[in-house]
Formats: sequence, structure tokens, C-alpha cells
Amino acid sequence: MALFQPKREAPSQVDFEHLPRHVAIIMDGNGRWAKRRGLPRTAGHAAGAETFRTIATYCKDIGLEYLSVYAFSTENWRRPMEEISAIMGLLKKYLLEAIAKMERDRVKMKFFGDLSPLTPELRQLCLETEEISRHYDGVQVNICLNYGGRDELVRAARAFAADCLKGGARPEDLTEATFSNYLFSAGVPDPDLVIRPSGELRLSNFLPWQAAYAELYFTDVLWPDFSKEELNRALADYQHRARRFGGV
Ligand code: FPP
Repeated sequence: MALFQPKREAPSQVDFEHLPRHVAIIMDGNGRWAKRRGLPRTAGHAAGAETFRTIATYCKDIGLEYLSVYAFSTENWRRPMEEISAIMGLLKKYLLEAIAKMERDRVKMKFFGDLSPLTPELRQLCLETEEISRHYDGVQVNICLNYGGRDELVRAARAFAADCLKGGARPEDLTEATFSNYLFSAGVPDPDLVIRPSGELRLSNFLPWQAAYAELYFTDVLWPDFSKEELNRALADYQHRARRFGGV
């Protein structure tokens, strides 16, 4: 038996009839993209926001059901205030545009994360986009904003404990399915595929519960350079994998 498995050929054709339901992306590499061009990190985030627009639109066009993106983590508050403000500013710009064309695009927007530390204006915009798009049937875009996977799990545990104290729940009745209902992602199917550009090989606290069985796809391409073609490569690669969920 051969001890060495040659690397399999990267498939290039996507079967658009059998797409994964949910793709999640860690939008990484904005800072390095800017540094390589001698630009401030904020320019990398601006380019990253453009890529996000392109990819979200493409996901809508190909009929993907759910797209989740990591826009700002609970740890990202450690960054310089100027950079945080720039990211929040880009989000605000995106949401204002999204609201303006929501009726036409029918993209459903959701936010995963604790929105309370945001400025009242940005928080209001987030809630408004969720509310307006509540019944839309295009792709559902989940923006993970001030999101941390461990934080999400602790919040869920707290909320469940509070329900037990109120008498509305009993510890012995808790199942994986009922616990999922306490997460930001309640009602959303787990991601089938998690993509991380920029060459980093870790999940960084991104959807740890939900991604338990997700296929992982890593590429060296930096997020601002990520394209529809790159997404197609990830989708085609995903379609050539055998998902066994612990079975044989
Ligand atoms: C990670 O790259 C990226 C972020 C922390 C911010 C992502 C934000 C955007 C793409 C813009 C706003 C989003 C929307 C949804 C409009 P990094 O800065 O850690 O890159 P590096 O590892 O190369 O430094």
C-alpha cells in the first residue's frame, strides 16, 4: 500500500444544482493586503468590504441559501481606535446602501453578536436592516459583528440557566437541538463549508458549535483578492469531499 497519497487535482467545476446550503467565511488578510501595497490598514478593510459586496451578490445570484461572514470579533476591540472606527464606518456605509436596495435584492440580513457596545446609530441600522428584510427570500447574510464563539456559548448557557430558574426549562430536557435555539444562529442550519483566506489555518473563535462538522477550506489568497472564481474553487473542492458525520 502506498504510504504517500499524491495531492488530488483541485476540481474546478461547480455543480450549481447541489450547492452547500450554508457557507461561512473568515474575511482575513485585509491588513497584509494593504501593507504589501504601502497603504494604511484601513485601505485593506475598504477593499475587503468591496470583496464582501461582490461575494454576497454572487451568493445571491447562484442561489446559495446562507452566507455567514466574520466582520468583527469580540477580540478585535484590541485594535487601534482608528482602525475600529474605519471598520464600523464601512459597515455603516454598507448597511445604508443595503437598506436602499433591499426591496430589489431581497437579501435577508441577520447579525450574530452582541450589538450593545456599538454606537446607537450603527446598532439602529443593524436592527433596521434585520427588520426590513425579515421576510425576504434571497440569500440570508449573517454578519458576525462583535461575535465570539465562546462568548456565544456562555451567553446561551446563561440564558438557559435563567429559563430553568424561571421554571420554563429543565436541565434534563436540554438537548443539542434545544441548546442551538439559545445561540445567535437559532433556526439557521449549520455551515457546511468554512472558508478562510490569507493562509491562516485556524478558526479563531468563529462559529465553534455550528462548524463542528463543517468542511474547512483554506487558501493563501488575501480577502481583498478573493473573487467569484476563488469561491467557485472552494465550492468545487467541497463537492468532491465525502461527508460522513462520524459514520462510515
Ligand atoms: C481581518 O483581516 C478582517 C477584519 C478584522 C475586518 C473585516 C471587515 C471588513 C471586510 C469590512 C467591513 C465588513 C462589511 C461586512 C461591510 P485583518 O485586518 O486581521 O488582516 P491581517 O491579518 O492581514 O492583518
